[in-house]
This record gives sequence, C-alpha cells and structure tokens, in this order.
Amino acid sequence: MNVPLFNLWAQHRALAPALRRAFERCLRRSAFILGPTLEAFERAFARTAGAPAAVGVANGTDALRLCLAAESIGPGDEVIVPALTFAATAHAVVHAGARPVFVDVEPETATIDPRLVERAVTRRTRAIIPVHLYGHPANMSALRAVARRRGLILIEDACQAHGARWRGRPVGSLGDYAAFSFYPSKNLGALGDGGIIATNRARADRLRALRHVGQRVKNRHDVAGFNSRLDAMQAAFLMIKLRRLPAWNRARRRRAGWYRRLVRRADLRLPVERPGALHVYHLFIVRTPRRDALQATLTRAGIGSAVYYPTPVPYQPAMRPCGHRRGDFPVAEEICRTNLALPMYPELTRAQAAAVARAVNRS
Ligand SMILES: Cc1ncc(COP(=O)(O)O)c(C=O)c1O
Repeated sequence: MNVPLFNLWAQHRALAPALRRAFERCLRRSAFILGPTLEAFERAFARTAGAPAAVGVANGTDALRLCLAAESIGPGDEVIVPALTFAATAHAVVHAGARPVFVDVEPETATIDPRLVERAVTRRTRAIIPVHLYGHPANMSALRAVARRRGLILIEDACQAHGARWRGRPVGSLGDYAAFSFYPSKNLGALGDGGIIATNRARADRLRALRHVGQRVKNRHDVAGFNSRLDAMQAAFLMIKLRRLPAWNRARRRRAGWYRRLVRRADLRLPVERPGALHVYHLFIVRTPRRDALQATLTRAGIGSAVYYPTPVPYQPAMRPCGHRRGDFPVAEEICRTNLALPMYPELTRAQAAAVARAVNRS
C-alpha cells in the first residue's frame, strides 16, 4: 500500500467547494491587499492563539524578521536560537544584522534546553527564539523565567505548532511575540505562502506599519519598513481552514496514538509528550541508529518518510561565520543522525497507519 508522507489533496478535496466560493468572492471584490477579509482572519487567529492581536505577513520567515525589527534588534545584538530547527529561525537573525547564538536542544523533546539558554546569555543578548519543533511546545515556563530574570524579549517560533498548548495555554500566548507559518503542509496551511504574528496591541500596531512599508496612514512612512502582507485571498482560504484546526489536531493526536500502539521495535524511540505539553504532531518523528536502513525499507514499501533535519543549523555553510565545529551540539547531532518522520496528516486512515507500522516492524 502506498502511503505518502503528507496528502494535502485529501484535505482540499473536502474543502474545495468552500475554497472556490471564497476565491469567487475575492475575485468579485478584487481587493487583494489588506482590508476587511484580512482583518477578520487576524481577529479570529488571535483568539485561537490566545493573544490580544495578530498581524498577517507574507511567510513565517518574515514573521520572525518583523518581530526582530519591531524590537530594533540589529548589529551588535545577540539572539539565542536552538541548534536544531528549520534554517529560517537563524536566517531571520542574520537578516536583522544580529548574531545568532546557538544552544543545544533537550534529548527528549528536541526543543531548546532552558539551562543552556541561561548559560548563553551575555551583555549583548536581546532575545530568545524557542522553537516548538515538530509540534511539541518548548519548556516555556523555564524560558519565561530566564527571559524575565535577564530582561530579554521572548519570540516563540510557532511555525510548526498551530494549536499546541503548554500548561493549558496556547502557543502564541506564551511570549512577547509568536511567529507562525502558513506554508501549505503546516497544521494550518495556506494555498501558497503566508504567515502571522501573535502579540499584544501596541506591538501589533508597530508591526502593521513595518509590514506595509512603514505606513500607518497612506503616504506617511514613519519607519523604514518591509513589504510583507498576508494576501486577502489567503486570509479568506485560511478562515475556512481555521475552523477545522482543532478537529485536525485531534485527528493528528489520534493517529499518533495508533502508531504508539502498532509500532513495536526495540531500537525505535517514539516521540515524547512531556507533562504539561499538548503536542500537535506536525511531524511524527521516530529515532533509531538504523535510520537509513529503515528509510530504505519504507521507500521500497511505497511509504513516504523524510529527515527533519539532516544537519544542525550551525553546521550549514550559511552559518560558517559563527565558527562552529562538529561536537559543539551533541544532542542536535544525535537527533540529525537518527530522526525519521513517518506519514502524518489528519486524513491518514487506520489501514494506512497499520501498513506503515508493519513496514517499520519488519525492517
Ligand atoms: C521552525 C520554522 N521556523 C520558520 C519557518 C519559516 O516559515 P516559512 O517557510 O513560512 O517562511 C518554518 C517553516 O518551514 C519552520 O518550520
């Protein structure tokens, strides 16, 4: 049985009539930039994220860049980021002109280690960007305590974790800012690129000017801004999908439960859900020292899988100026050597999950 890693069409097939109607409405209005459709989505998303406001932007990378710009973080500043994440978390810091300071992750959850964060703080540190990697929230209680003690801005990178919770509170409400991506395969995905920042009202006001070439009112440019807005059309599509997000996340969690019951292999580590965390399984990551052999078996059986990620960000060529060497981030390295994502999406059937588990158990 062929089982893809993701299946976006399975989601879009069911929503196609509603999406087509939204497209028709946008076309008839022909108002594509800013405006009431975007504002309505921003209000609805802010409620989901438990934040007073939300500001739609062009993608998740820009969401991070705008948060840094809103705090005037730039040359001479340091920003703490995890060594294991999607590269964009660190690239946003570089684009701000600041220095990314990499910190290793915890072995159980693959999220930034708060004890190491505390040790990495210097006089130059301005912000911490914890990443809720794979859909599991970082230890936000410990990180909030460090940020408060050291007077640092806390920017959640929630690009992989729409709807996740930490101690009952949604991600997006746990720091000063939270950046979300609507890349199509995310738990909440647009039909193209998109992103949003959840924050308080005063910061949202600054971000609205920054995303719109510095304008609060037309032709008055208060700050040097970006051109980074979430399209009204994408906001209309996302509004339809946002209503389904809780059910989709419950479906992902149910499928994670199936895998937990069905997968039996002594050398395989299944994802940990730490007490206090509500994991939304953007990715279902297993870990084994025999990762490459497992992936080859799955490929032969027609089952999709992928490595997230093969290389810690500080060892990428783009981060060479940071001067890191193998051995600096042993936990991130171990996860990069051993991780493999199994098929995970809300429409995955029980029979497909069983076929994946059989192939895993056989390999
Ligand atoms: C952890 C993380 N941060 C940032 C981003 C960047 O988001 P985007 O692709 O929308 O720019 C992503 C998206 O893949 C991500 O997974």
